[in-house]
Amino acid sequence: MRYIPAEGLVEGMIVGKSLYDRYHKLLLSKGSKIHTGYVERIKMLGYQGVYIDDELSADIEIKDVINDEIRMKMVQTVKDVCIHSALGDVGTKSEQAYLVAKMETTKELIADIVEHLIENKDAMVNLIDLKFFDDYTFFYSVNVAVLSIVVGVGMELDKESLYNLGLGAVLHDIGKIFIDVNILNKKDTLTKEEYEIIKKHSEFGYRFLRETYQIPTASYVAVLHHHEKYNGGGYPSGISKDNISLLGRIIGIADVYDALTSNRAYRKALLPSEAMEYIMANGGLMFDVNVAKVFARKVAPFPVGTYVKLSNGYVGIVSENY
Ligand SMILES: [Fe+2]
Repeated sequence: MRYIPAEGLVEGMIVGKSLYDRYHKLLLSKGSKIHTGYVERIKMLGYQGVYIDDELSADIEIKDVINDEIRMKMVQTVKDVCIHSALGDVGTKSEQAYLVAKMETTKELIADIVEHLIENKDAMVNLIDLKFFDDYTFFYSVNVAVLSIVVGVGMELDKESLYNLGLGAVLHDIGKIFIDVNILNKKDTLTKEEYEIIKKHSEFGYRFLRETYQIPTASYVAVLHHHEKYNGGGYPSGISKDNISLLGRIIGIADVYDALTSNRAYRKALLPSEAMEYIMANGGLMFDVNVAKVFARKVAPFPVGTYVKLSNGYVGIVSENY
């Protein structure tokens, strides 16, 4: 299997990894043939690329750190929690019971993912996420959670901390449900006032989680800290270094990495290697250098299945990362 950027797709290629649409429904299943019409559709949805199967890459195996089924379940659950929390009628008894049940499912799924990643200690993020442009918020939360837990495992955190980390990570942006969608989705540059409003989401999320759900303190403190920067240049409090909770520092890096590798209205996604360069260049400035180092060890800058050109002019497909 190998990765082909959307612009390189041609009719007849065989899909190597299933694609989903914005409603999390199967769009193209593994093994199906790509037709010309699909190529346009894939691009329109904002997919940056697709994994394909061909003879050239037949012996290249690409494994995600968690399987698609768990990932999709987690995406759906986070979506339910966020959408129903945003409805604002948390007051009614049935609504409360629904939310509590959904949060319990979230906790169980996070515990499963932690268990799985502890068992696969050497797992490395070796995949380009097949994410698309709109409505990727919930995929994004799950990506940030998986990245954070993988880094946490690399830092040898205990199981309880990994669970707290995963839960905080998957809910890190929940405060955005309290921000005006017109500001959140604005395509033009934000005014100073609008940016100040967006910056409130970490505190909103922290308060909401603390007051609404039974979740560990470490998880909601991490939510509060996920935009603080190591050198004190972040928000909401501008705290620095070890005053930022370790879990918050880990989520902060995963969040930036995932944002950089996603398409945005104002720029195209960076390649994993470019995003990694940005993270490493900011070690000790924006990010805790120790966390950044573990991040670089656990996330492949040139994921398996990608096409690379070496400085000596040779081209090839990455078949393994050590
Ligand atoms: Fe955020």
